[in-house]
Amino acid sequence: MSYVIGCDVGTSGTKAIVVSESGKLFSKVMVEYPLSTPHPGWAEQHPDTWVKAAFEAIAGAVRKAGVKAGDVRALGFSGQMHSSVFLDKNGKVLRPALLWCDTRTHQECLEITRKVGESHLRQWVSNPALEGFTLPKILWVKKHEPKIYNQIAQVLMPKDYIRYKLTGVLGTEVSDAAGTLYFDVKNRRWSKEILAKLGIPLKWFPQVVESQQVCGHLTPGAAKALGLKAGTPVVGGGADNTCGAVGNGIIKTGDVMASLGTSGVFFAHTDQVKVDPLMRVHTFCHSVPKKWYLMGVMLSAGFSLRWYRDTLGLTEKELGKKTGKDPYDVLSNLAKKAGEGSEGLLFLPYLMGERTPHKDSNARAAFIGASARHCRAHFARSVFEGITFGMRDSLEIFRVLKVPIRRVVATGGGAVNPFWRQLQADIYGEEVVTVNSQEGPAYGSAILAMVGSGLYRSVSSACSKLIKVVTRTAPRKKSVQVYNGWYQEYKNIYPRLKQTFQSIQTRL
Ligand code: XUL
Repeated sequence: MSYVIGCDVGTSGTKAIVVSESGKLFSKVMVEYPLSTPHPGWAEQHPDTWVKAAFEAIAGAVRKAGVKAGDVRALGFSGQMHSSVFLDKNGKVLRPALLWCDTRTHQECLEITRKVGESHLRQWVSNPALEGFTLPKILWVKKHEPKIYNQIAQVLMPKDYIRYKLTGVLGTEVSDAAGTLYFDVKNRRWSKEILAKLGIPLKWFPQVVESQQVCGHLTPGAAKALGLKAGTPVVGGGADNTCGAVGNGIIKTGDVMASLGTSGVFFAHTDQVKVDPLMRVHTFCHSVPKKWYLMGVMLSAGFSLRWYRDTLGLTEKELGKKTGKDPYDVLSNLAKKAGEGSEGLLFLPYLMGERTPHKDSNARAAFIGASARHCRAHFARSVFEGITFGMRDSLEIFRVLKVPIRRVVATGGGAVNPFWRQLQADIYGEEVVTVNSQEGPAYGSAILAMVGSGLYRSVSSACSKLIKVVTRTAPRKKSVQVYNGWYQEYKNIYPRLKQTFQSIQTRL
């Protein structure tokens, strides 16, 4: 039997899985690491932390699966998008990476928009300048750390740095390149235009392949450390979101995915490049050749729930500990006791600012409408509802853009919890389904490795063979109506608080 390895380089940890050619999961190892926030709004990780974790996770998964080195046909990596790895001419890391959720680059975004102009941004790179993207991070280093800037010889994405350490080959692929803001998403090549406009050398960026293409082979040293064969191919892999999409079978028109992890992502496959005229959702390259996608991103989806658990929900957390129950299950059981709409208590989930639809790093979270009647159950429910309303904002943009929606595939934390699945169906007003693979991006990167090593002809043929729907949740007519009303109230809050959020920031 043949096997492949999928490995996701995430924000909270790196996960490696061993999967057989028939899609069966043989082993899984997760190695966690912290995120450092040296200043408010900053988020950094050292790339060598990822490398160490990736070696440990892959070697551990290979050992656990007990597979023969010669039977592993290929490896695929997925990873957090946008985060910047700066290397010098000897391939040494120059500073910790600035992560996708780092918002220090607000001024650089304004500068890019001023110099390049909105219409060229749309034309050249299909996206607006947003704090999380890679380009403003490069300009921040130029302004604040010129000594480091002068030594830069390469800028890589997280998973591409790992592949470089395993194969010695510098490279990237279209789906991660698309999130840099210096990639011509339409033509799937680096954007010489924007780089020239901002005076950034093209030679800093490596060759670009399609996600399933082989982009290097394991060196003897790396192979030995991982328990694999030297020369094992490593494919281009993909961004965590496209690999998550592949792992959930989102590969044709009508396929839409709602992923509730730390961030919340609404992902819609498109056959052509489609750009939102207001650029509220991103337009990036899919990990399927000649395909693209639209994506809305909430910065604090699952993160809002974790924050609630660790602050206002400590009682439930304790109860979970005492009874051996998952604290999120305790929270959702409590939330069930409050009525739909939490009797008028609404939660804005903007703990770290928001990307879609507001593009506002000053936005903050809020509970609105609290009255003497409200108790813990209402607060817990309003957090679940507020996150899901935030996700609906992206869905509404897809609807305006006339993106066909057949059903919503739920993945991440929102997919495992039946209460949240029903809430999603009722708030989205769409059927919500889940599929057999629960390993998200790591599974998608394993599928890309299967295709790259010839086990399957194409990403779509692999997905149709391997991915099956396992649960279906229909929207309930009456609840849809109730939530349509509360969603309108939710939508009205942010515009009224926008100025307040801004002036609060000036006082901090
Ligand atoms: C997407 C984004 C996040 C990260 C999380 O634009 O910033 O979803 O990819 O890893």
